[in-house]
Amino acid sequence: MRRKFIVGNWKMHKGPADADTLAEALKRGLAGRDAAVDVGVAPPFLSLPAVVSRLKHTGIVVAGQNLHPEMQGAYTGEISGEMLRQAGVAYCLVGHSERRQLFGDTDALVEKRVHACFRAGLLPILCVGETLAEREAGKEVEVVTRQLASALGKLHADQIPSVTLAYEPVWAIGTGRTASPLQAQDMHATIRGWLESNFPAFVARSTRIQYGGSVKGSNAAELLRMPDIDGALVGGAALNAEEFLQIVAAAG
Ligand code: 13P
Repeated sequence: MRRKFIVGNWKMHKGPADADTLAEALKRGLAGRDAAVDVGVAPPFLSLPAVVSRLKHTGIVVAGQNLHPEMQGAYTGEISGEMLRQAGVAYCLVGHSERRQLFGDTDALVEKRVHACFRAGLLPILCVGETLAEREAGKEVEVVTRQLASALGKLHADQIPSVTLAYEPVWAIGTGRTASPLQAQDMHATIRGWLESNFPAFVARSTRIQYGGSVKGSNAAELLRMPDIDGALVGGAALNAEEFLQIVAAAG
């Protein structure tokens, strides 16, 4: 019942012209596919209008990479969920580990951003994941469940399946060191178990959990074959249309 969902997080790559070229290549590559897999891209803010326009009527959804908790106000340099919605964006990443590690996103701020998504009518893609030090200390489950409880704890059960969860172990991001399919499956099963024990049964059954961290064309199939891995959040490999299309094909 959970359709696979592959999203490319372009991070701080691809200005408007380059983003348009990549979006056009994806559009061409995915034209006429049987839409068994949901596909999305998260370009930088400045490139959103070009990508939204290029991908109109393609079924490829567009996500922001972050949003401010407030709808508007004196917050120089920030972008709100309402602005993203007006720009034709449907989803928004929240709590990516780069935000948590480099830009001070705390659990409390991540929770506010999740709520801001709902207020603006955006679907959140909530990223969780432990650092290498936390894994080596045997704390990965504690860290991930703390992040989940903080971000989702005050939502109504009916809202949870609109959230896509993305398990991205920090040690696997941009390092070429992917979690093994079993390591990833283990954590995904833990996350689903956490949903089961905190919400009615339909929530765990229908909420999608993506894996992220060095997903490539060559390792996507074995990860996506795992029962609790419902898609991928792809960084580096999403910058190349051919590679990203291979990952989408592996999900189908
Ligand atoms: P990489 O695929 O480059 O490891 O990045 C993963 C990621 O952070 C996606 O959000």
